Amino acid sequence: MGKEVASALARWCALEIQPGQPVLTAIADVSDAARAWFDRIPSVSIKTDDYHAILASKEVDAVYVAVPHDLHEQIYLDVLKAGKDLLAEKPFGMNLKQAMNIALSARTSGRFVRCSSEFPFYPGAQRVVQAVKSGELGRIIDVRSGFWHSSDLDPNKPINWKRQKARCGEAGVMNDLGLHAWHIPIRMGWKPLRVHAQLQNIVTERPDANRRLVPCDTDDNAIWNVDAMVDGHDTPLRVEVKRIAPGEMNTWFIEVTGTEGCVKYSTKDPKTLWTFRREKEQIWQRIDLGHATQFPVITGPIFEFGFPDAFLQMWAAFLAERSGALGDRFGCATPDEAVMAHQLNEAALESSRKRSVVELNL
Ligand SMILES: NC(=O)c1ccc[n+]([C@@H]2O[C@H](COP(=O)([O-])OP(=O)(O)OC[C@H]3O[C@@H](n4cnc5c(N)ncnc54)[C@H](O)[C@@H]3O)[C@@H](O)[C@H]2O)c1
Repeated sequence: MGKEVASALARWCALEIQPGQPVLTAIADVSDAARAWFDRIPSVSIKTDDYHAILASKEVDAVYVAVPHDLHEQIYLDVLKAGKDLLAEKPFGMNLKQAMNIALSARTSGRFVRCSSEFPFYPGAQRVVQAVKSGELGRIIDVRSGFWHSSDLDPNKPINWKRQKARCGEAGVMNDLGLHAWHIPIRMGWKPLRVHAQLQNIVTERPDANRRLVPCDTDDNAIWNVDAMVDGHDTPLRVEVKRIAPGEMNTWFIEVTGTEGCVKYSTKDPKTLWTFRREKEQIWQRIDLGHATQFPVITGPIFEFGFPDAFLQMWAAFLAERSGALGDRFGCATPDEAVMAHQLNEAALESSRKRSVVELNL
């Protein structure tokens, strides 16, 4: 993910509105090969295997951290202690306790802190947000949101840190993908009241580097079946994150149905927004969206939008909000939102353990 950031910052010239002028000056990675990749970025003057060297540099104002989850808390706290702003990677610590500790430190440090979640920056996702905010959908009937992969479908795929509780966290796939799917529902103020979760550990062993089978103890798939308070009504909200969803590469989606209208968007069909209005006939309309971004770019509006574009838009939002120039645009996930995602993970773990509905007090 560090390479993705380097690439987004290198494309900063594509933004017609430039909130700040970020320069990538320093990188840290314990892997020689990972560090060597950054030789292609001429502005990088510090390449180190010890991230403390970055934190000691006066040249550095803000730090992006993308490391395995078991390292989040320590490194995020060190970044804040060094007086730097932080774009953290999700899930913002291994678990709720760590997330709350990081959020507390963010508050007391006074630094600007946000958490990475780029999918809401797709034009289609933004249109869903606008439709919800406008009230044109009438009373919301139900909401579905999710993020599906098939990255773990192959049982012979070697294990890595994301498939082990000790490094990924007990919440497994929820730690990996949960904030992506929860970001908009949380931002819309839909307040989860109670949850019944279905968690599945489908592939329980995987080969290690020596082809020996070792435990793969994280859940692969998770579904939160939630009653949420939406505009004063108890409303069904279903959120799904899956590493084993046959046929899906990186499918992020959100669907909102209402009494007056409906709207749905999926990155599986990235140009397309589906909308429905209550009329005499039951008509879903398919709209070709093009490159309609929050921060205008040189790319013409007829062209397609993709993952690196969403990443660039997220970074523009981070720097705009950091300098007080976000306006009414959609911003990156806040520390409180990341904490709430962890509260939902813990509730799901409890629900799955007890095989029951868990009441939430968020
Ligand atoms: N926003 C997204 O779409 C997205 C996508 C994938 C991963 N992520 C998140 O990004 C983070 C990293 O995931 P990834 O897929 O890039 O993992 P990765 O395993 O590909 O990369 C992690 C990097 O951290 C380095 N590292 C490990 N310990 C270190 C240390 N002490 N100091 C410096 N570097 C160290 C590793 O050498 C490696 O290069 C996770 O929090 C993950 O959830 C986000």
